[in-house]
Amino acid sequence: MRNRFHALCPYFAMFPEGFAEKWIDELTDPGDLVADPFCGRGTTPFQALLMGRNALAGDINPVAYCLTAAKTQGPALSTVCRRISELENAYEARRWRPRTRSLPEFFDRAYDPRTLSQLLYLRDVLRWSTRRSDAMIAALALGALHGESEKSPSYLSAQMPRTISTKPAYSVRFWDRHGHVPPRRDVFELLRRRARFRYASPLPALRGHVELTDFRNLHRLKAVRRREARCIITSPPYLDVTSFEEDQWLRLWFLGGPPHPTRNRVSRDDRHELASAYWRMVADFWRTAGHLVASGGHVVVRMAGKGLSANAVVDGLTGCSVVASRDVSLVDWETSTIPRRQTDAFRPGSVGVRFEVDAVFKVV
Ligand SMILES: C[S@@+](CC[C@H](N)C(=O)[O-])C[C@H]1O[C@@H](n2cnc3c(N)ncnc32)[C@H](O)[C@@H]1O
Repeated sequence: MRNRFHALCPYFAMFPEGFAEKWIDELTDPGDLVADPFCGRGTTPFQALLMGRNALAGDINPVAYCLTAAKTQGPALSTVCRRISELENAYEARRWRPRTRSLPEFFDRAYDPRTLSQLLYLRDVLRWSTRRSDAMIAALALGALHGESEKSPSYLSAQMPRTISTKPAYSVRFWDRHGHVPPRRDVFELLRRRARFRYASPLPALRGHVELTDFRNLHRLKAVRRREARCIITSPPYLDVTSFEEDQWLRLWFLGGPPHPTRNRVSRDDRHELASAYWRMVADFWRTAGHLVASGGHVVVRMAGKGLSANAVVDGLTGCSVVASRDVSLVDWETSTIPRRQTDAFRPGSVGVRFEVDAVFKVV
């Protein structure tokens, strides 16, 4: 059975665990350190731990940090269930209901009043950045926050895509047009159900190290310095494809962010529309990679970009690698086609990238 924690919460432009598994198997041995400075939902570090490797991960987006921390440092199911009950017992509906009125219209239309006041409460009390059980509960909530609730009782919002949070005005128009109303859900009950479902799979015996940081700083952090990775398996933001911040605005709100979409507040690298700025970011990636990878190690990059040919991706990646403090050589590359995306149904006519490039480099 596929480990159920992989799908704890969808993440746009995530790579499948099979991709990480293949390269971890090919390029590393048990006990080696595998790193991912753009970890997203945590595919690489989680798969590395499952395969008996150590894992080092970073991402600047709190959603990515929370999901990766939950998967790579997850507590026992009994601890999670105990904490959910403790939170439920401390919840006072009459205190939280009035607070829902200060939120924009989107929230009333997305959530039933009881669901929304429970979410507001959890948003306030969960200490996801410091407490392992709270990171897991927040991650379970992030996975349930929005999705196709007409088809499944596992989502809290009125009908939305599960991968990205559609914009508020668009969502309201969509619900008006299709007559969608918010489902009646009890958040605590759903969290318990989701936890039991995920924990049918084991968490890894080893724990990973995750940082909420710009990739440029990862190797400078005290806890990371002098740690040498046998391999980096990663996927930076793609050229002009998505803004992880804007497209995840609702999940970011749940983790303490503002109740509306933002851009460039979390990361200025999320969406480079200009190729020159994009390649500067890729060059910065190589500077970090040069510090993180051990001699003889490898860097595997999955990348794409609007308007970029496969050759342009490989040439750009290889060209930028000259700024790394080490000699880097391209070993192999191939392209893969991206299947139809779930978001296509909600954004008809949007044309994203249709293929990705996987490039493998050796560091001398
Ligand atoms: C293509 S996604 C990675 C997806 C990941 N491989 C997975 O399977 O989920 C790129 C990631 O880069 C992150 N990112 C963007 N700017 C960043 C920065 N300056 N430092 C670190 N991470 C950044 C985004 O938040 C996003 O999670």
